[in-house]
Amino acid sequence: MCTRLFLCAFAAIAIAGNGHAAKILGLFPHTGKSHQMVFEPLLRSLAERGHHVTSVSFFPLKNPPANYTDVSLEGIAGLGVETFDLSIYEAPNLLLKIPIVNRIFNQLMAFHPLAGMALDVCGKALNWPPLIEALKSDYDVVLVENFNSDCMLGLLHIYGIKSPVVALLTTYLMPWSGNRIGVFENPAYVPVVSTSFTSRMTFLDRLENTFVYLYHNFWFRYLIQVKERELIEKRFGRKIPDLQDLGKNYSLMIVNTFHALNGVRPTVPGVVEVGGMHLDHTRKIIPEQLESWKPFGTHYLYVSVLLEKLEVYYWER
Ligand SMILES: *[C@@H]1O[C@H](CO)[C@@H](O)[C@H](O)[C@H]1NC(C)=O
Ligand SMILES: *[C@@H]1O[C@H](CO)[C@@H](O)[C@H](O)[C@H]1NC(C)=O
Repeated sequence: MCTRLFLCAFAAIAIAGNGHAAKILGLFPHTGKSHQMVFEPLLRSLAERGHHVTSVSFFPLKNPPANYTDVSLEGIAGLGVETFDLSIYEAPNLLLKIPIVNRIFNQLMAFHPLAGMALDVCGKALNWPPLIEALKSDYDVVLVENFNSDCMLGLLHIYGIKSPVVALLTTYLMPWSGNRIGVFENPAYVPVVSTSFTSRMTFLDRLENTFVYLYHNFWFRYLIQVKERELIEKRFGRKIPDLQDLGKNYSLMIVNTFHALNGVRPTVPGVVEVGGMHLDHTRKIIPEQLESWKPFGTHYLYVSVLLEKLEVYYWER
């Protein structure tokens, strides 16, 4: 039967193209708008192509297509609360005057608030009636964001949803993502997402990269994953598998990268690059000065910084 789950996922979608609509559930429990901007066009076009899409997020569509159901998490948490206490930077700490220490500290601090956000949303989502209602249906495939939380994987298990799970990422793999699908990101030459390193690192860079890699994994494991499991077990009064193991059942991981830009790194067929998937391809505006810049022959690549996020405009002539 379906030994390769991701083939089943594709089969479900392919068959659906011939008139049998797939039932797709999307679970996006992160409050950052920039993340939803990546998923929204995918969900919308799946619905426009005839599938039944149920999207659980903080950002319901203003004018959803037919057969698109929004399950709003609005009200669970404040939106875009990607803020943190700046006073830590004011404390006169001599250690932070050392450039490397300061740089590492800033990286760790940038991730820190994500733990509180994940647990806050998770704790409330477990008791959010519209979400619980949505989880009582059957689906052909589940799309879930892989970022700062595995709460939704626990809920899928509780509600017995056994369909293939496809993880979506708005960047490349997080430090805790790769091993779920068989990618080993050796910190000796694979830069961690929070660093500014490329694959060519000095010895000190590698040390720093390795430290940050190990720390992020430790942080995610003990400040998020383990606690989310406890929240779920407490709420439902029963044991569930380790969320890490549930994550290993991803059928596919879709990453918002493009190797020419984000660098070359080890990968496996289960990781699919879709950098630029979310861009509006009807807006083919090329700045004049880039007209003559064609690094990829007949392909154009246009990079701009938009809304704190790197946007890549890429299309064929
Ligand atoms: C919505 O779903 C129904 C039932 O599957 C289907 O008949 C209809 O064509 C769909 N609408 C669109 C616009 O795809
Ligand atoms: C992962 O999927 C397999 C096949 O569907 C299943 O047998 C196994 O129990 C799942 N693992 C967990 C931790 O749910």
